[in-house]
Amino acid sequence: MCGIVGYVGQQEAKDLLLEGLKKLEYRGYDSAGIAILNGDIHLFKSPGNIASLESTLPSTIEGKCGIAHTRWATHGAPNQTNAHPHVSNSGNMTMVHNGIIENYQELKKELRDKGYSFKSDTYSEVLLNLIEFEYNQNGQDAADAIRKATSRVKGTYAIGLLIKGESDKIYAIRCGSPLIIAKAQEGFYMASDLNAFSTTTDEVFFPEDHDLIILNAQEGIRTINEKGNEIRMISETFQAATNSTGKNGFEDYMLKEIFEQEETVPLAMVYSGKNNKIQFPHITAIEEQLKSINRIIIIGCGTSWHAGLIGNYLFEKYARIPSTTEYASEFRYRQPVIGKGDLVIALSQSGETADTLAATRLAKRAGATTLVICNVPRSTLTRETDAHILLNAGPEIGVASTKAFTSQVAILTQLAFYISDLRNIEHPEISGILKNLAGLSIFINKILGKKNQIKELAEKYSFAQNFLFIGRGINYPTALEGALKLKEISYIHAEGYPGAEMKHGPIALIDSNFPTVAIATDEENRLKMISNIHEIQARGGNVIVLIRQGDDKLASMADDYIEIPATNDEAMPILSIIPLQMFSYYMAKFKGCNVDQPRNLAKSVTVE
Ligand code: AGP
Repeated sequence: MCGIVGYVGQQEAKDLLLEGLKKLEYRGYDSAGIAILNGDIHLFKSPGNIASLESTLPSTIEGKCGIAHTRWATHGAPNQTNAHPHVSNSGNMTMVHNGIIENYQELKKELRDKGYSFKSDTYSEVLLNLIEFEYNQNGQDAADAIRKATSRVKGTYAIGLLIKGESDKIYAIRCGSPLIIAKAQEGFYMASDLNAFSTTTDEVFFPEDHDLIILNAQEGIRTINEKGNEIRMISETFQAATNSTGKNGFEDYMLKEIFEQEETVPLAMVYSGKNNKIQFPHITAIEEQLKSINRIIIIGCGTSWHAGLIGNYLFEKYARIPSTTEYASEFRYRQPVIGKGDLVIALSQSGETADTLAATRLAKRAGATTLVICNVPRSTLTRETDAHILLNAGPEIGVASTKAFTSQVAILTQLAFYISDLRNIEHPEISGILKNLAGLSIFINKILGKKNQIKELAEKYSFAQNFLFIGRGINYPTALEGALKLKEISYIHAEGYPGAEMKHGPIALIDSNFPTVAIATDEENRLKMISNIHEIQARGGNVIVLIRQGDDKLASMADDYIEIPATNDEAMPILSIIPLQMFSYYMAKFKGCNVDQPRNLAKSVTVE
């Protein structure tokens, strides 16, 4: 979950590294550091975010070769000592690392027995000193030392390494963690993902696991594969994301991305009203399989898992294919029985989530057809699956996923209809639903216009330390997602439940200090939700109800309500989640939380 960057070229490295690092800050912001090689190693690191690091740096640090790191602490407290880059015992090597080393204790003991000492609690420092040990053993052959040391690692890594005494070179290697190499006008870069690269970048390269990369201003990019052969990686053109950097006048990325949904949901529409057709450009390769699969398994984590639950509902209702939605982390370890007749759909905004990646690899090895629905072009998942569908929502920087969720649901809805059409299942209502989906931006605009009402509601309920979110059917996942939004950015405890589950336990929680959000926007479950609301109010609980516009009966019953423009039930999760995103945003702002970088979280969970 950390971000690593390296640069070597014709320009001073410091500002280029900081610029790249800032674009990776959403990957982790517990601490940050930078090391510049200029004959000597010049190392600066600081707890806190990159701005904290920057405030400690001298205005000039000479040197055209360096590495930098922004950390999400997986092991060892987020403090100065544990911040990367780390320095080896001799002081001649410095390294940044993203990943987890599972067998670090045995390696650390072995090195201690050889006289090594350790400053930090991290396993990254262990790997660095193991490389140094091998380097000193083999006549200072860096490539060989890195190969030998990393071959002993159980776990994942993407590293950047500098060695004093060697000319300005960056050594990089990955296994399981993302690493991308770039050629730019001013030199060469390595980084955790494409966001780090700027508009001066011409080409990008995607190393395979165990490819050893050597970057040097004069020699360019050298690649030595696992067999020790020098190879040339295939380059891909690069177009820097232009709309990712600014907040466009919004106070926070999260608020910007909530408001962007007016544009991004239509961008997820692959349905054309003109010919009444749904066209998914990238999945023709698996079209035959889609006609014959006998089961769909949707895998994901967090918000993506919630979107998957909605997909599950729609695949069964419209494509009539048995479907399940599983946490990727559970799926990968339960020895699932899967094979050729299965379609495994991975949902991942980042395309880098470790558990989702591992689960997808397992499915592929088992012979299942794999498809990823993702928001980051050329992310690892898009490159490792049989087919991919892009959300086209633009970079999502806020750690709390908002626009990706609504685009995931829009894509899944169309995919369910697409597969039902491929399998000649008649649903005359689908074209009407699609037309409504295609016109949702008008309704989204109306909901966004309720910003002040929702802000006032958040202020009214800012006393609450606990919240319950309930919904039924297609809105049960909406309840889960609303609860996740609230808890992850405001740190208020919140749980999502199916409405029918209230009587099986959760209703015991209800009193005047334990409010509930009830999502009653789908026609199908309206009456049952009314019963739930009555049960809660009878026990002194306050209920904020999301209602279909014009539902006066529900409006009169609710303690507070938010009206959602009425449309098909299938589109209701997309509309209903937006006020819940805004509600959570304002609850968090009232608490003074950092909504874009909530404590303990990172945007892309690239470690398990
Ligand atoms: C959602 O707000 C969270 N940031 C988190 O649950 C996220 O959805 C999860 O980590 C999955 O990320 P992915 O979609 O990039 O795979």
